[in-house]
Amino acid sequence: MSGAECLRGQRILITGASMGIGAAVARAFARQGAELLLVARSEEKLKNLLSEISADSPGSAYLTADLTQPEDVENLVQRLLLEGRLDGVVHNAGAGNYNTFAAVSEHELRELFELNFFSVFTLTRGLLPLLKRSPRATVLTVSSIVAWRAIPRMSVYSATKAALSAFAESLRIDLAPDGIRVVDVYPGRTRTDFTANAKSEGWKPFSTESEGATPERVAARILRAYVKGKRDEFVSFSNRLLIWGNFLFPSVIDWSMKRYFRGK
Ligand SMILES: NC(=O)c1ccc[n+]([C@@H]2O[C@H](COP(=O)([O-])OP(=O)(O)OC[C@H]3O[C@@H](n4cnc5c(N)ncnc54)[C@H](OP(=O)(O)O)[C@@H]3O)[C@@H](O)[C@H]2O)c1
Repeated sequence: MSGAECLRGQRILITGASMGIGAAVARAFARQGAELLLVARSEEKLKNLLSEISADSPGSAYLTADLTQPEDVENLVQRLLLEGRLDGVVHNAGAGNYNTFAAVSEHELRELFELNFFSVFTLTRGLLPLLKRSPRATVLTVSSIVAWRAIPRMSVYSATKAALSAFAESLRIDLAPDGIRVVDVYPGRTRTDFTANAKSEGWKPFSTESEGATPERVAARILRAYVKGKRDEFVSFSNRLLIWGNFLFPSVIDWSMKRYFRGK
């Protein structure tokens, strides 16, 4: 089935659509004729994106919500239940935190879990009645390579993504009898404002401003995985190599990370 055959007229919620990977996914899905509901906090950016995609995707709309706030998540669910139709969700909204384990605060830990994990749980469960009615319902989670190999200075972020991928893996089997497909995607470093937007009290070990895959490339992989209903998707070969390396020689990966982070 082609992208357009699969997506034309499909009503799909995309969280974190205001910039970066989410905005690229929205453009890619809109070109296939999907009807999108774009969610993020930045209203101006969502408005601009909506006018950009409206020729390809006339029924699309945006809704603002802060997904760290359980009441915003609940309001979003109620609003969508009232509308009464949904075929898919791309859980993309997320943020990072580069603070050391000693510096990361309890508040930051809980806030990051609210956004990267709990909002996905609550949205998916709240929207189940709609998804169950759709003949081609799909839930796609944008996880990260760090779900497979956690990295220093990102312990909390890595934990949120590991939780997300474990959730998606189990959900895939739980929801299979309802005909709902669950796809998990693991991007590696991607050129977005992720690093700039991540909380950090100083040194940031990685930069996503100018290094990594383009968001368009990641969006193309997400589109392909969504259309095919793949169980999961890596974006680059080097990411796969890291995972194999970590599987076979975890101590070597530990050693090279210790060297990289020594004294930082
Ligand atoms: N870039 C990378 O290297 C990379 C690698 C692996 C995985 N990922 C994952 O890919 C996803 C997208 O990241 P990105 O690189 O595109 O980062 P980004 O450019 O910072 O975009 C993050 C998106 O999430 C939204 N968001 C952040 N906090 C939110 C909140 N409290 N409520 C609602 N929406 C919120 C942002 O919109 P507003 O600020 O307008 O709310 C924005 O649309 C994330 O889940 C990230 O973990 C990224």
